[in-house]
Amino acid sequence: MGHDALGTLDSMLIAQISDTHIFCDESNHASASQRARCLSRCISDINLQQPDVVIFTGDTVQHGTPEEYNHLRRLLAPLKPSLYLVPGNRDNKPEMRAAFKDQPYIPQEGPFLHYTIDDYPIRLIALDSTEPEERKGVFCSERQEWLEKALKEKPDSPTILFIHHPPFDVEDHYTSGYRYPDQAIALTKLVSRHTQITQLLCGHVHCLFRCDWAGTNATTMPSIAVDVRRHMDKIQSQQQPAYMLHRLTSESTLVSEIRVIE
Ligand SMILES: [Fe+2]
Repeated sequence: MGHDALGTLDSMLIAQISDTHIFCDESNHASASQRARCLSRCISDINLQQPDVVIFTGDTVQHGTPEEYNHLRRLLAPLKPSLYLVPGNRDNKPEMRAAFKDQPYIPQEGPFLHYTIDDYPIRLIALDSTEPEERKGVFCSERQEWLEKALKEKPDSPTILFIHHPPFDVEDHYTSGYRYPDQAIALTKLVSRHTQITQLLCGHVHCLFRCDWAGTNATTMPSIAVDVRRHMDKIQSQQQPAYMLHRLTSESTLVSEIRVIE
């Protein structure tokens, strides 16, 4: 924690990365080496910025194979801050669990990769929206029950929720990024009953959007993989990866910026 020149308390800095879509080291895909380079460049800059934590909102690899996770682990090795992952539709949960079994926050059993982190000025809750062989987000009653229970445990703790899939419509291309509209509506109602949630952070759509959602703010972020990034390339060189920095203010709001790597 520290005070800047204006006396504002900056209690936490959070970096968010998403949708790196890493291939295996031996891949001959045209974008394989570029995607690896994008992640490495972001990691170098994150280490300079020294955030308290890094949140990784899924689609970490392209096909979910052990070889891709091995490559991902090697690329992530230089990262200094603590990293918290949630799966995306491109991830394979058993392989992801195996690759990150040294990370105690990742549950090694059960159908979901959800968890809560209570070690920081703001509480972190990861909600797993993925199902095997399903591209869209799933917010079933079991997931809702887990989230409701987690939120009831600490109703007075400001909380950031992070999910791979946005549970709202973003634009025509990603309308209904969730499988069942009634589940998305139920999740929205659930979150709106728990006012300690100050922000929802998502990936999946590969571009930046911000909206009011369930009585809080929601953002999606550009993909780290620049070849599948959308919209930003109209204004930024396609060679420049970008990630998000979210600064927690003393009012428990997040001030967010896109950090473009020159
Ligand atoms: Fe993705």
